[in-house]
Amino acid sequence: MAATNIEVWQLATVVEVRSVATGIQRVVLEPSLPRQAEPGSHVDVMVGINGQKDKRSYSIVESSEDGTRLAISVLKAPLSRGGSLFIHTLQRGDQLEITQPLQNFPLRVGAERYIMLAGGIGITAIMNMARVLKSLGSDYTFVYVGRTRTAMAYLEELRDLHGANLVVHVDDEGTSLDVEALVAGVTENTELYMCGPIRLMDAVRRTWTEHGLSYPNLRYETFGNSGWYDPEVFIVKVPKLGLQVPVGPGRSMLEALEDAGADMMYDCRKGECGLCEVRILQLEGAIDHRDVFYSARQKSATEKMACCVSRAVTSKTGLATEASATGPAIVTIEVS
Ligand code: FES
Repeated sequence: MAATNIEVWQLATVVEVRSVATGIQRVVLEPSLPRQAEPGSHVDVMVGINGQKDKRSYSIVESSEDGTRLAISVLKAPLSRGGSLFIHTLQRGDQLEITQPLQNFPLRVGAERYIMLAGGIGITAIMNMARVLKSLGSDYTFVYVGRTRTAMAYLEELRDLHGANLVVHVDDEGTSLDVEALVAGVTENTELYMCGPIRLMDAVRRTWTEHGLSYPNLRYETFGNSGWYDPEVFIVKVPKLGLQVPVGPGRSMLEALEDAGADMMYDCRKGECGLCEVRILQLEGAIDHRDVFYSARQKSATEKMACCVSRAVTSKTGLATEASATGPAIVTIEVS
């Protein structure tokens, strides 16, 4: 049976662990309740962080047909909230709790032409889809963008499988992707699927709109944790609740407020649904909007933010909207 969005938790056993690029670990799992994984699907994994359990989503990069084996690949991000560090401690024989495959990035089979665009660790969300397009004999170009070759997972395997369909851009080799040229080559019935850093996805979205292309033909997956700037400590104040809470680089504002006892609304925790919206009353510093929910105009207005992913940063970014901060950025908010 195919993936659904009903969370069914199960135990899974780690059967293989290996490095597939600098800082990227491939982990193969054998689920106890196997279920077929569609291209674009992911699993939620219960990770242990400082003695507490938390949930993280990881794309399925490969799966056996019957779903008895599936692989994820995770970049160890020192500035992350701890999920990736947990995955990098896993060893063969370990058991962990995962969901059956979940789907929120489906591949629409039957388009005239496809462009599959992966940036960095975003390859994990794209490679299974591209494999299916190859097996279906679809017309596709697979564009893989990275900073250095050593940081690009599965590069050789992808070259072997996709041959001339794979186009590689490597920043430190001077072959960075020209987003304008890529989008200019998109025909009316082309679908573009992408996953990667927010700068890349934002540039593609903006150029796509400038070219007047059909928005439903642009599909993307977010990780909900890549921003314009490195995360830094900031202070969130909620006057109505009498709260003043520091938010460390490894925590989200939502988590920090929950820990402080605030009753918060949320759903996706990935910057997609807008349910965690908070109103910004005052700001010392700037907001690093990391969501895909608000429009560019809403983001520049700095009136509200998705607190599950977006953060405050100091004025060193040049984005200060109010009094520049000498210490950490401070955002004063009102929760719904
Ligand atoms: S919970 Fe969905 S955008 Fe924050």
